[in-house]
Amino acid sequence: SPSQPTAVRGPALTFTGDPFRDGLDRTMIHEPDAIVVMQDGLITQFGPAARIAPLLPPGTEVRDFGRNALISAGFVDTHVHFPQMPMIASYGTQLLDWLERYTFPTEQRFADRAYTREVARRFLRESLRNGITTSCVYGTVHAHSADILFEEAEALGLRLAAGKVLMDCHAPEALRDTPQSAYDESLALIRKWHGRGRLLYAITPRFACTSSREQLAAAGTLWREHPDCLMQTHLSETEAEVARIRELFPERRSYLDVYDHYGLCRKGAVFGHGICLDEEELQHLHATGAAIAHCPTSNFFLGSGVFDIARARRADRPIRVGLGTDLGAGTSFSILQTLNEAYKAAQLNRHPLSAAHAYYLATRGSATAMHLEDKVGSIAPGMEADLVVLDMRSTPLIDFRMDEARDFGEQLFVQMILGDDRAVQATYVAGHPVHDRGRGVCFP
Ligand code: GUN
Ligand code: ZN
Repeated sequence: SPSQPTAVRGPALTFTGDPFRDGLDRTMIHEPDAIVVMQDGLITQFGPAARIAPLLPPGTEVRDFGRNALISAGFVDTHVHFPQMPMIASYGTQLLDWLERYTFPTEQRFADRAYTREVARRFLRESLRNGITTSCVYGTVHAHSADILFEEAEALGLRLAAGKVLMDCHAPEALRDTPQSAYDESLALIRKWHGRGRLLYAITPRFACTSSREQLAAAGTLWREHPDCLMQTHLSETEAEVARIRELFPERRSYLDVYDHYGLCRKGAVFGHGICLDEEELQHLHATGAAIAHCPTSNFFLGSGVFDIARARRADRPIRVGLGTDLGAGTSFSILQTLNEAYKAAQLNRHPLSAAHAYYLATRGSATAMHLEDKVGSIAPGMEADLVVLDMRSTPLIDFRMDEARDFGEQLFVQMILGDDRAVQATYVAGHPVHDRGRGVCFP
């Protein structure tokens, strides 16, 4: 039976298309006083309060967040490792040493199911506290890491993609699977979880440095057999990693060519980082519809490099780009803080990233990277009712600075430079409030 509609009211921001391609005028909706109506997990109406209010069925509960709020589609995190939450902020190493010194020892602890569940819960709670309603998540090599995360995400009604990590070489014995067990365990997880409720499976070879040719081939076979799954891995994050790939796969033209050779570069692929790519690789990502997850806090933290979003989105061969926190190499669950770092990466490339473009990246752009733009990432009738409500005056400094802001673009920019989890006032999943600042997470 249909449930009672509920609604939220306040200023709203959303996108109907890609502002990098078609400009802000044609793609951005900023409504100073909007109502979003939600029923049975979907958005049923969206527009100016003056137009929507008279249409509301009598008795519809409307929560008014006031004129200092901003209602947006929930944030989408296209690249994150939930098992790395315990080792966020680990000192002193770059990617390949960081993996050996911190990551692999931490991931071994996930052999323990109870520990895995505790971290999975904490991870989802922290994501919701930051307004992240959809994520594309790496587990560990243990099949139960994905199983347990899916169970917890299902209980919350989240749209979420995840996968068990595949790695069968150049890693500690305890974290290695085999080509066959990688295939079998991933297949069982796909059968159990892919398309169940709002959950999606992402086939997850860690990166070509830790998978044999046989394992990459097995991943490619599995993806060919289950083509509507996502596939996530890491690509060209650092120069040292690219050099190692050259040693490990001398027969391949480029790092991307390794994945491409094994059938792992096409629509539905989400490649983490993609910093050190040549023009031919960028051209191929564009031609195939594969996506890059831009993870600026991670790239700066590990000293990996500076992703050039303007180059990746170049109008003559635009590549799908989403935003990723990449915890625990990434340093914040806050999408606002992640956009702050994305702005600085763009500055270093001499192409400033406007706040509006940045918010697109965190919502509809990231949904597009996961091929979910018809389900999440924007506010429109028929879209799933995942929302974040920001408080545009969340700290004394922001409050003071906002008085000086001349227009909405400037207000938005102040949020992404100065804002963090304190700016997330409420989070809705499938129409239900799952986070309310001050009251913690209230699971529906
Ligand atoms: N490359 C391979 N594995 C990882 C990982 O866990 N984190 C990051 N940032 N890069 C990787
Ligand atoms: Zn990563």
